Amino acid sequence: MVILVTGGAGFIGSHTCTELLEGGYEIVVLDNFVNSRPGTLGHIEEIARREFPFYAVDLLHEQALRRIFKERRIDAVIHFAGLKAVGESVRHPLWYFHNNITGTLNLCSIMAEFGCKRMVFSSSATVYGIDSNEPISEEATPRTPINPYGKTKLMIERILGDICVSDPEWSVVSLRYFNPAGAHTSGLIGEDPKGIPNNLLPYIAKVANGELEKLSVFGDDYDTPDGTGIRDYIHVVDLAKAHICALRYAFAHTGQDVINLGTGMGYSVFEIIAAFERASGKKIPYQVAPRRPGDLAVCYANPSKAKSVLGWSAERDLDAMCFDIWHYTQRRG
Ligand code: WQD
Repeated sequence: MVILVTGGAGFIGSHTCTELLEGGYEIVVLDNFVNSRPGTLGHIEEIARREFPFYAVDLLHEQALRRIFKERRIDAVIHFAGLKAVGESVRHPLWYFHNNITGTLNLCSIMAEFGCKRMVFSSSATVYGIDSNEPISEEATPRTPINPYGKTKLMIERILGDICVSDPEWSVVSLRYFNPAGAHTSGLIGEDPKGIPNNLLPYIAKVANGELEKLSVFGDDYDTPDGTGIRDYIHVVDLAKAHICALRYAFAHTGQDVINLGTGMGYSVFEIIAAFERASGKKIPYQVAPRRPGDLAVCYANPSKAKSVLGWSAERDLDAMCFDIWHYTQRRG
């Protein structure tokens, strides 16, 4: 079975490639390195002790994309490639809509051209846009997300849904991630955003490592037990394993299904700081700053559908997540 992984050099993509190779799948990887590094490909091969073909191709380049499908017999696609920084999407909406949506349209057209109609799509819990003290289930109606990044994810889900309606041979599993974090236990691959990180754990890791001076805690006056925002952080290796289950499911059903990937546990910013201090043995200096516009107080998953439909649930806890990030940060230097 040959799986095309778009965005395979990225954070979640690289961990999923490793799991696919270890699971005996053949993979073909595509990436344009807009937010990833070529060196990651060698690290994936080192972990899995297997090699794979790679294409430095952008989804916006239809001809180059078509060439991949001409050269390889692709059975299914795991589609990660996309821009994902919330703040950047607010500043550059056209870039985000063009890149994420046109890229996906190109991919789907070429897949259809070659009779490849199975996809696992990297979506996001951001499509819910709900602030709730209840865990969020898939039945919750997506609201229009607040930023262009989130809108691209919701629009793509809807496009994929319409493709499935138009042609009953299509099968799509859209995975709505909560807050991916962590790194591979080898310390070889992990999250290494270019520039100053937007997300909490990569930022904390750089503070612990002395690369950044201190963390700004965005608001300590939310209606939560310690006043800071609560999120459902999920270990990237658990997330990667869920993609293998989703791929199997994509071969067993048709139409689009959407599934939450989270742990069902919420942690506050202060709890995350404490966990990282335990894992690293470092003090994390912080200051309380104003709330970040667009942030929710609480967001965590009801993960029961993933358990019943995919037979998957998260196994790694917060301490493992922080430990693996710290190990990766130190190895990276
Ligand atoms: C987590 C918590 C912040 C940074 C975003 C996207 C979402 C998804 C994942 C992916 C919040 C607080 C953060 C900091 C802080 N996208 N925080 N200081 O906002 O839940 O989700 O990433 O590709 O679509 O919106 O994650 O890690 O940015 O924030 O206090 O320097 O940490 O306020 O409570 P978020 P996050």
